[in-house]
Amino acid sequence: MSEDPTHTSAPRTASYEADPAEVHRALLLYSGGLDTSVMLKWIQDSYDAEVVCLTVNLGQPGEDYEVIKGKALELGALDCHVVDAREEFAREYVLPAIKANALYGGGYPLFTALGRPLIAKLAVDYARKSGCDTIAHGCTGKGNDQVRIEVTVATLAPELKTIAPVRSWQMGREEEIAYARSHGIPVKSIQGAEGQAPYSIDDNLWGRSSEGRWIEDLSHAPEDDVFQLVTPPERAPDEAEIVEIEFERGVPVALSGERLELVELIERVAELGACHGVGIVDHIEDRIVGLKVRDIYEAPAAAILLGAHQELEQLVGTIHQNQFKPQLDRQWAYLVYAGLWWEPLRSDLDAYMERVNELVSGTIGIKLYKGQARVVTRSSPNAVYDASLASFAESGGLFPQTASPGFIELFSLQSRMAWRLHNE
Ligand code: ARG
Repeated sequence: MSEDPTHTSAPRTASYEADPAEVHRALLLYSGGLDTSVMLKWIQDSYDAEVVCLTVNLGQPGEDYEVIKGKALELGALDCHVVDAREEFAREYVLPAIKANALYGGGYPLFTALGRPLIAKLAVDYARKSGCDTIAHGCTGKGNDQVRIEVTVATLAPELKTIAPVRSWQMGREEEIAYARSHGIPVKSIQGAEGQAPYSIDDNLWGRSSEGRWIEDLSHAPEDDVFQLVTPPERAPDEAEIVEIEFERGVPVALSGERLELVELIERVAELGACHGVGIVDHIEDRIVGLKVRDIYEAPAAAILLGAHQELEQLVGTIHQNQFKPQLDRQWAYLVYAGLWWEPLRSDLDAYMERVNELVSGTIGIKLYKGQARVVTRSSPNAVYDASLASFAESGGLFPQTASPGFIELFSLQSRMAWRLHNE
């Protein structure tokens, strides 16, 4: 190990944290941004170790993977694997979330939380393939992402260690930029390197989050420059648009009559929603590490697909199923938010989700208009719905209205007795 003033030899707390002397080759989860670029050099210098990079494409818009790879190699990486994991992400991670109507804290569709276990699983695969002993990531010590990544690595690969230099190197943004400049890391290409720090962004095909800057001031209303995905509703088209989402067994399969593969369907729905200002969430969130933080989310595909799915599921479910499932949905979202993707309770819950979704087939029409996505039409062969029973038009039909008083008397029996006991 070379002498480096930025190197900290803090004692290790957890069994899976790497002993610096034993890091020989690290697999770095590389995004091409400032933190992970500095890390790429820093690991080579202060650990005297080799670095193999992995960059995962989960459908984050506007990335040039050739450029990222070129930069990694230029900064001394032995190799930089670029993996297109969109298909796996959509099928194995987003789809279960749709079936579980997954929203954490009532508003966050979990796109980052869903992506991390997959990214970390791929890191394990590539670390093993390329003879790495350690996985390095760029998460800070204040967020949920460190939990999700380290839980995954420690679960799937007990033989691998992890390092999280940003958590320990005690460099602020200015110091990182100075480090980058003095180590030949191209800073010009780093967004916001000149002037104020950029928002902290994370995105994939299921949504985009922004944190930092004025977002930390709870009394500050969103500034428009944060919205890089969704059109601010006031600037959305004056014409409403209706989209139809068809589901088969809980899986969205067609958009307005056109059958599409899942990744393309999600991307197309996202575009439509983004155009109409749909999917903006200004969210205060209870992080797993104790902090309460504000996030600005743009998740147009999730807003539309989760809304449509939930509507269809309620149409085909009984009152009892519909009362029960949201409790499990909530537990599912909490587990995934908390980084416990590999916890057996999640697969137990998924078995229930699968079972319920066997009947979730049909089509939901959603009207998109200036930030709103409102369900306007529904149809399903499995709907527990009979228009002739529900109708106000006929006086009775097959619904035995005269049986209602008896029902009401028995149904309310205990409640009435208790009320009298407590109030008379
Ligand atoms: N608050 C969200 C979560 O915990 C989004 C985090 C975004 N991550 C990031 N590194 N910027 O899942």
